[in-house]
Amino acid sequence: MAFRSRITGTGSHLPEKILSNAELAKTVDTTDEWIVERTGIRQRHIAREGETTAILAYQAGEKALEAAGIEASELDLVIVATTTPDNTFPSTATKVQAMLGMDSGAAFDVQAVCSGFIYALSIADNFVRAGQAKNILVIGAEVFSRILDWEDRTTCVLFGDGAGAVVLQAEECEEGDKIGILSTHLHSDGKLRDLLYTDGGPGTNSTVGHVRMLGREVFRHAVTNLASVVVEALEANNLEKSDIDWLVPHQANKRILDSTAKKLGMNPDQVVITVDRHANTSAASVPLALDTAVRDGRIQKGQLVLMEAMGGGLTWGAALVRW
Ligand code: COA
Repeated sequence: MAFRSRITGTGSHLPEKILSNAELAKTVDTTDEWIVERTGIRQRHIAREGETTAILAYQAGEKALEAAGIEASELDLVIVATTTPDNTFPSTATKVQAMLGMDSGAAFDVQAVCSGFIYALSIADNFVRAGQAKNILVIGAEVFSRILDWEDRTTCVLFGDGAGAVVLQAEECEEGDKIGILSTHLHSDGKLRDLLYTDGGPGTNSTVGHVRMLGREVFRHAVTNLASVVVEALEANNLEKSDIDWLVPHQANKRILDSTAKKLGMNPDQVVITVDRHANTSAASVPLALDTAVRDGRIQKGQLVLMEAMGGGLTWGAALVRW
């Protein structure tokens, strides 16, 4: 007997306020044309004052629980992937746990920036495989707008706020059964941490800091690392590129998505794209895109779904799921 994780519910939540490129261009030295051409981004959602990561995470989590048809009281774990926690401590996940009215289980945050959701999913899947948890809520949530330097046009146009969530449930099966999360693959290279970072935090003179990025370098590593982790995931499961039904990538830049899809020989229609409407929501981007494609009926039972992401650290990873 073995345990495998099934994604039994998805949910997402976006702040109401939308900031278009044209509006942004009123205060930042940029244009709608430049942003669309270089990134594919047309607008982003921005949290209002007081709307924190925990609030967005809770809303997305509630919807995922509802879709899965289980109660928060049945959860063993709440994991929140975020780079923009409400406070330095305690974790945002403990706040979400309280908002969900839970008085049992455990909750913690995961920090892998834009790869955070894939990292959190991998951790959750391993809890299930080890038989240590049956029901887990995995959330990616961010208010990146709070750590942007709104005077730096090379970064502030790229990000947005939001949250996405999944419920993982353990299914008992035979060892070797190819169901649910087939495998997850995580990587990092700390030598490259200066390519994408914040210039603040408890180890510096500034409490929070702002996002700093060498965009071209990040772009170059993203294209190479994502292609290699995708091949790794397929090889680990004896699957071919042509077996993938849906690619649900981290939504950083449409050009990176196009390049990954091309390397996989995938039809552009098989790539779930939300970057045009959401921009880069960091750890929230993969579950936001996943929820979009589940709710609009694109992702169907039995299909093969590949999720991948790369972010500051650098960190990167992939998850292959038989839906
Ligand atoms: N509006 C208008 N012009 C801008 C601009 C903006 N928002 N941001 C930069 N520019 C200018 C630059 O100043 C530069 O001008 P110059 O040629 O006069 O010096 C020019 O546009 C080209 O800049 P460059 O950085 O070379 O552009 P690029 O084609 O590499 O695109 C990014 C920049 C950031 C869109 C691109 O590098 C990228 O997407 N990188 C990956 C970022 C990412 O995904 N990060 C998150 C990973 S999780």
